[in-house]
Amino acid sequence: MQPLTAHPSGPLRGQARPPGDKSISHRALMLGASAIGETRIAGLLEGEDVLGTAAALRKLGAAIVRLADGTWRVQGRGTGGLVEPDDVLDLGNSGTSARLLLGLMATHDMKVFLTGDASLRRRPMGRVIEPLSRMGASFEARQGNRLPLLMRGAALPVPIRYELPVASAQVKSAILLAALNTPGTTTVIEREATRDHSERMLRHLGAEVRVTRAGKGAEIAITGGPELVGKPITVPADPSSAAFAIVAGLTVPGSAVTMQGVGTNPLRTGLFATLKDMGADLTLANARDDGEPIADITARHSMLKGVVVPPERAPSMIDEYPILAVAAAHARGTTVMKGLAELRVKESDRLAAVAAGLEACGITFRMGEDLLEVDGCAGPPPGLDKGAAIVTHMDHRIAMSFLVLGLGARRPVTVDDGEFIDTSFPGFGDFMRALGADIRAPGEVQMAAGGHGAGGTPA
Ligand code: S3P
Repeated sequence: MQPLTAHPSGPLRGQARPPGDKSISHRALMLGASAIGETRIAGLLEGEDVLGTAAALRKLGAAIVRLADGTWRVQGRGTGGLVEPDDVLDLGNSGTSARLLLGLMATHDMKVFLTGDASLRRRPMGRVIEPLSRMGASFEARQGNRLPLLMRGAALPVPIRYELPVASAQVKSAILLAALNTPGTTTVIEREATRDHSERMLRHLGAEVRVTRAGKGAEIAITGGPELVGKPITVPADPSSAAFAIVAGLTVPGSAVTMQGVGTNPLRTGLFATLKDMGADLTLANARDDGEPIADITARHSMLKGVVVPPERAPSMIDEYPILAVAAAHARGTTVMKGLAELRVKESDRLAAVAAGLEACGITFRMGEDLLEVDGCAGPPPGLDKGAAIVTHMDHRIAMSFLVLGLGARRPVTVDDGEFIDTSFPGFGDFMRALGADIRAPGEVQMAAGGHGAGGTPA
């Protein structure tokens, strides 16, 4: 356990590039491993989740190295060319690694044993087991379709036409990856559109992917057996990671922070739309396209107002509700978030973890099965008069969100374990300190702020 404390901080100022997008990084490695020749990846997220995917792909036969210039080189095995790993694949905390790799491996004639940490072993795998079984793979999983599990990949995979029962890019991507080594056309139907990084990158490397938009969703058809060809891939900065400094900038008086090169794929930007609805001073500049749309995003301190977040926005901001709850706590009026059922099966039960954290900070809220209403304090939460202690439940986003709450509060906020932050945002503490945030281990004296930081005010 590595506790961390965020102290009330002076204005946050400066500009920085958050680390690479986690979703896109996983996909770049997996598709690079499935392509012929070399895929050179710039801006790869070097967080534990993605490093776990790289380690697993090496066990499956791909050659993956980090080069001296910080880019990553993947020498792939071609479609259907993965080999049976000679050991258990341990995917740590990463649901994306587990579900997408199951898809990729499901149409290879081999046996794979898969496990993860205590958080991942609690998460449901039935959502990928079901469609992948229809494609010919078979599974022996623990009760409730949890890890550890044994998968026998299909020797003779069959294409499916499958309507997603939950809005999940992980399930969609698992099926698309399985379809690569399946003859014929596999079709995934989603009622609500989810992040389309897999579709974009599959096309980039030469797969035939046809997308037909239908209402709020889409029908995605992929032709099996393409010869994917390795190509350069640039990973944008992760909007889900940028979100923490952005909300810190909006809630700490006097702040102005710019996050550079952030992915602005419209299927990922629900948080930014919501913050704008709340009256946030958020501006986008230098919009450009680098395989995915990117821009520089500036957040200036703003008086936010409570809003009703429509449930159909959930897929485009599913990882951002914890940090939105922090923004909502500072707003004037109540913020209503609906359609949150999926939060219950993330790295933790995020709905319960956010609610418990708000309670510890003296913020009034109401939680339903898939709903959260936060009564904003129109500024720093006054109920937080003695500081707060937050239980993070092995969940990086709970840890980072409540540290951000502490920066804009009047008393420190301590999270019980900052260790899991490294899964998605290695260097988070240094990154935030360079902007002027006072985040440190409990009892540690304040470090001099680097970069453009104005330094924090010790409590
Ligand atoms: C991800 C999709 C989302 C998200 C996760 C990453 C992906 O999960 O929560 O952090 O890379 O496809 P679901 O697709 O299960 O909603």
